[in-house]
Amino acid sequence: MDPRNHSAPTARHTFETRAVHAGRDDLAALGTHAVPIDLSTTYPLTDLPGAALALDAYAEGELPSGSPIYGRLTNPTVRRFEEALAELEGCEAAVAFASGMAAVTASLLAAATRGKRHVVAVRPLYGTTDHLLTSGLLGTEVTWVTSGGVAAALRPETGLVMVETPANPTLAELDLADLAAQAGDVPLLVDNTFATPVLQRPAEFGARMVLHSATKFLGGHGDVMGGVVACDEESARVLRQIRFATGALLHPLAGYMLLRGLATLPVRVMKASTSAGTIATRLAAHPGVERVHYPSIGGALIAFEVAGDPMEVVAALRLITPAVSLGGTDSLIQHPASLTHRVIDDSARAEGEIGPKLLRLSVGLEHEDDLWADLAVALAASAEGGSDDPEAARAADPTPKPRQVLARAGG
Ligand SMILES: Cc1ncc(COP(=O)(O)O)c(C=O)c1O
Repeated sequence: MDPRNHSAPTARHTFETRAVHAGRDDLAALGTHAVPIDLSTTYPLTDLPGAALALDAYAEGELPSGSPIYGRLTNPTVRRFEEALAELEGCEAAVAFASGMAAVTASLLAAATRGKRHVVAVRPLYGTTDHLLTSGLLGTEVTWVTSGGVAAALRPETGLVMVETPANPTLAELDLADLAAQAGDVPLLVDNTFATPVLQRPAEFGARMVLHSATKFLGGHGDVMGGVVACDEESARVLRQIRFATGALLHPLAGYMLLRGLATLPVRVMKASTSAGTIATRLAAHPGVERVHYPSIGGALIAFEVAGDPMEVVAALRLITPAVSLGGTDSLIQHPASLTHRVIDDSARAEGEIGPKLLRLSVGLEHEDDLWADLAVALAASAEGGSDDPEAARAADPTPKPRQVLARAGG
């Protein structure tokens, strides 16, 4: 048997199997089992004319065979993660970055390199993505629309349609096939951070670019930052050109950890999703909870509005950690109006239906009964400690008033 094919995943295999084997198909031929981590920043060049030609190719966003030449051009460990993620998203290629925001930035710059600086976007988006678009920090102009208004907002200079579904933080869902049809020739970028390719593969619906904050579910343990865009090879070349010239690289150790994360992604997402479904049902039946949003496609996140003070609920939790970010092994809860979506202004929050009573819970791999016990105690504590006048409590906005600073949001 050819050892090269020993562990090569193929379309015959299920998603779970490909998640374990993708990016590792040459390991048997290399005579190793764990993925090698290449930390080189530079590489010995024995063929100088060949290296010069390869450098031209790298500058054009290509991936020539042979030496990586320099750590900013490509890295073998990171490439394994890119190939694996591309395969799981059903795309030709993927390009990894230092963070999710670096991936968003490169995507916007890629559109701008075609002279297309106008973006059409649907709220809500992750707060810093919204902020990056609204602030014009990258020289882009954004038109915010509802999901039905995309086609009407397109202009000749529109370079990107940007959406999240399920969206951060409300978990609002969008019809991707309809959005792709409305976008027409304009690339549709879908931030798939919350769904992961386990639950949704946007390219199957016509999305040209599929973005992840890899910091979340792909890494899965709260200990690695990264971003990645899965797309066609043509778009990948432009993204690589931008990465080459701007330097927002994924570190090789992060590439290793993200590839390792992919192997357990289906198991983690399905387990957390089952627990989250149960907890969402229990929350919906609880008198201390006014509204629950749990996506129709499932997932580990729950958005819910409490009757009392959300700060008191969070403060009374003992097992669930109050923290931004999501998608790890342990459960995290946060108050979007104070944290992830604080950087956007009141009208943007109102448009995205990000109310003062909203909490976002990322369910981890703990047992659902332990998580529910923690939540039930916290909800009861907030009901006891809360105002005697429920109408006054409801009307009160516990969100601390903002200072005039540019950016402050975590993930
Ligand atoms: C949906 C979504 N997209 C993008 C980002 C940005 O990713 P990062 O924090 O890795 O830069 C986040 C971070 O929370 C996110 O939730």
